[in-house]
Amino acid sequence: MSAVLHDHITNIRGQFPALARRAGERTAAFFDGPAGTQVPQCVIDAVSEYFVQHNANHGGLFATSRESDAVLARAHQAVADLLGSDDPGTVSFGPNMTTLTLSLSRALARTWSSGDEVIVSRLDHDANFTPWVLAAADAGATVRYIDVDPVDCTMDLDDFKAKLNDRTRLVAVGCASNAVGSVNPVKEICRLSRSAGALTFLDAVHFAPHSLIDVHDLGCDFLACSAYKFFGPHVGILWGRRPLLEELSAYKLRPAADTLPDKWMTGTQNHECIAGTLAAVEYLADLGRTVADDETLSRRSSLVYAYQAIMEYEQQLIWHLIEGLRSLESYRLWGIDDSLRHAERLPTISITHSQRKPVDIAEELGRQGLFVWHGNYYAQPLTERLGLEPDGMIRVGVVHYNTLEEVDRLLTALRNPA
Ligand SMILES: Cc1ncc(COP(=O)(O)O)c(C=O)c1O
Repeated sequence: MSAVLHDHITNIRGQFPALARRAGERTAAFFDGPAGTQVPQCVIDAVSEYFVQHNANHGGLFATSRESDAVLARAHQAVADLLGSDDPGTVSFGPNMTTLTLSLSRALARTWSSGDEVIVSRLDHDANFTPWVLAAADAGATVRYIDVDPVDCTMDLDDFKAKLNDRTRLVAVGCASNAVGSVNPVKEICRLSRSAGALTFLDAVHFAPHSLIDVHDLGCDFLACSAYKFFGPHVGILWGRRPLLEELSAYKLRPAADTLPDKWMTGTQNHECIAGTLAAVEYLADLGRTVADDETLSRRSSLVYAYQAIMEYEQQLIWHLIEGLRSLESYRLWGIDDSLRHAERLPTISITHSQRKPVDIAEELGRQGLFVWHGNYYAQPLTERLGLEPDGMIRVGVVHYNTLEEVDRLLTALRNPA
């Protein structure tokens, strides 16, 4: 069965100028999406239009500042739509997810004390691990670690349940692993955490380019993601439940507004890239309208169609890759390899070779125009747990602008190491 997105792939790829890039004799194949995706022309245009038309600081009583603030307001609304929230004030922008998380962790830690507990997961990117470990240390709180099943690289839910108790103040987990693609049962984790009286912080950075987020359906208290992973510029995003964002005391400067959304957006923002983030959400919404063949859809409804099409398409590519890897005996795939469990994984895989180091393979693939990542990609809690430090793994990430031909090129290159 062919995914509906196949019919539009030429048009989609045509919108991403970087995809035409040559690498030596070959066209580059970008399998580095988990480290940052390429951007469509509309995002590039929005950034450039911001500079040409509206470049100004926030809150001035003149045309460009008013226009700039209007662009920012539209960006808050667009990201609220993307996250399934009807309250644009609950969306904060910042330099990146890491910085926003460090800032929130410091504010939350002010409410913790000795005897309180915080739960983090070994499946997570370090950005959803170390900020909480540091904040807990500052507050004298205890950190508990959710283990990973090393066989299929999934979160050990029983271990989480055993660690959750009435002293738990915060549970910080990722929606999906940026290394092995496992999707975590975060809705269940949020439900259990809430009934234990704990707050939840979800890292949706790796999830956002592949699956539609609905903060209310997930039942989380906070969620962070990054626009540069979903076809936008380098901007971090933090969503939180309004009463929490209002009540918590932020580390901020005195003249800056204490009201949402400004309260958590410290310093002058990267306005041009926030304009680009708005365009990235619009790009996804337009994709949804195209695949649904319905120009009248609301932004949120069109995003539902876009993500459905993206998911079907990406699943075909990633299972083609996983099936192809089965015949390459020197490689080991880390993570879920049973297609019956497709709903539990995103199209990101990590592999190791029985003799060759990830860095050498990645370098050779790079020479052939196949852009993959190597090392731990900051998923260090996981590579430590799996005993894969210091070399790590090779990561191949598929997004909706990749093609089956690119996957076949990669398989051929892996089969015939130089
Ligand atoms: C799952 C995950 N969480 C957090 C981060 C950190 O995001 P940022 O680069 O916006 O700080 C990344 C970046 O690779 C990631 O993949």
